Amino acid sequence: MKRIERVAVIGAGIMGTGIAGSIFKYGFEARLFDVNKDILRNSCELLRKRARRSQDPEKIVMTETLEEAVEGADLIIEAIIEKLEAKCSFYAELGKTAPSATIFSSNTSSLSISEMAESSGRPGKFLGLHFFNPPVLMRLVEVTVTGELEDDALESVMDFLKNIKKTGIKCMESPGFVVNRILLPVVFEAFHILKEKSENSGRSIIETANEIDSAILNSGIFPMGPLDLADLTGIDTIYSVSEVLYRGFNKSSRFTPSPFIKSFIDRGYTGRKKGKGVYNYNNTENDPDLNPILDERGNKIERIESPEFNSADLLSVAANEAFLVLEEGIVASYKDIETCMELGTRWPNGPFKMVKEYGKERLLDVLKRRYSESGNNPRYCPGSLWENPTPELVEYFS
Ligand code: NAI
Repeated sequence: MKRIERVAVIGAGIMGTGIAGSIFKYGFEARLFDVNKDILRNSCELLRKRARRSQDPEKIVMTETLEEAVEGADLIIEAIIEKLEAKCSFYAELGKTAPSATIFSSNTSSLSISEMAESSGRPGKFLGLHFFNPPVLMRLVEVTVTGELEDDALESVMDFLKNIKKTGIKCMESPGFVVNRILLPVVFEAFHILKEKSENSGRSIIETANEIDSAILNSGIFPMGPLDLADLTGIDTIYSVSEVLYRGFNKSSRFTPSPFIKSFIDRGYTGRKKGKGVYNYNNTENDPDLNPILDERGNKIERIESPEFNSADLLSVAANEAFLVLEEGIVASYKDIETCMELGTRWPNGPFKMVKEYGKERLLDVLKRRYSESGNNPRYCPGSLWENPTPELVEYFS
């Protein structure tokens, strides 16, 4: 196995800067390149300014050209814009420029690793390295592999991640990888419930959303209400992940993008960044949806009692997705899923531990009830491992 010493980070935006900082933090040289020279300069200056006394700021190398950045690189981590065409043409060029032994990786959160690998002309040395934001603080890296990846390349990258104190979890290429695949359906489901409940009760969207988020917070299952999380992440981002999952799973109706979620985007309600999302963060506006329970800065969401809402409805969806990820062989063990969700989200426990604590049979009953009440909507169709678990799950749940 070749030890990775020299790394080039391409794209010096939010993620590229953070990834370069994570590499530099552990004594490695980070060579940065960006097509936008101002962004590149600012990123390098920021990293050098943050360097501790014991660190050599010269190890942040600002490069003028792509050729200079990748010269002698053992590993390239690409963090450019999330557009498949842009990434594929970047890799087509890189494949011609970089040394033949160099390993290529993409920090994409949703695009096809195989398609990029093919464009690069070296699929045996191509993998996904999905760092989480902010990279310096988040330990998890989803290491997305295709069937063509060489064992040696994977071994070198895993070793490198260990050297920069990251936990790399190997997962087979699949839409949403592990964390987004399990986390986002909880948010989608919260929107389905929000629509249903606000239509049936005649209460406003904000009041109903607050009941749902409060129930989740009161249950202690998740550390943040899913609708609050949608506003924080950006409802447009949430919607585009639903499109990725929908396309990636051959337009499966399990992931049909919700017109209700889209309606927020169409009205410009994309979340905190715009002052309005599910909740309203501009209390000064004369808006019929004005949330009476937000403080004057519009950020605080007060917890209320919401006995009507059953938080197991959301937990069952997350758990089912976790069972499906395992059933599809995306990871080798349920333990990998636990690690991904514990390190990649702020969940206090992984989904399998939550299932165990809640009671597997009880939760399966919730899912079956939702499946039949919804007229067999595939979103609630239990995966086969609930009733036919793998030997390691049998042991875990015994
Ligand atoms: P960003 O917009 O902050 O940075 C992208 C940078 O790439 C820009 O500075 C741009 O000038 C540069 N760039 C574009 N084309 C280039 C090219 N051909 N060569 C060199 N530089 C180029 O974007 P951000 O948020 O840092 O995202 C980068 C990647 O990381 C995307 O693939 C995104 O999906 C992924 N990601 C983002 C996360 C986030 O929370 N922002 C989390 C995990 C992954």
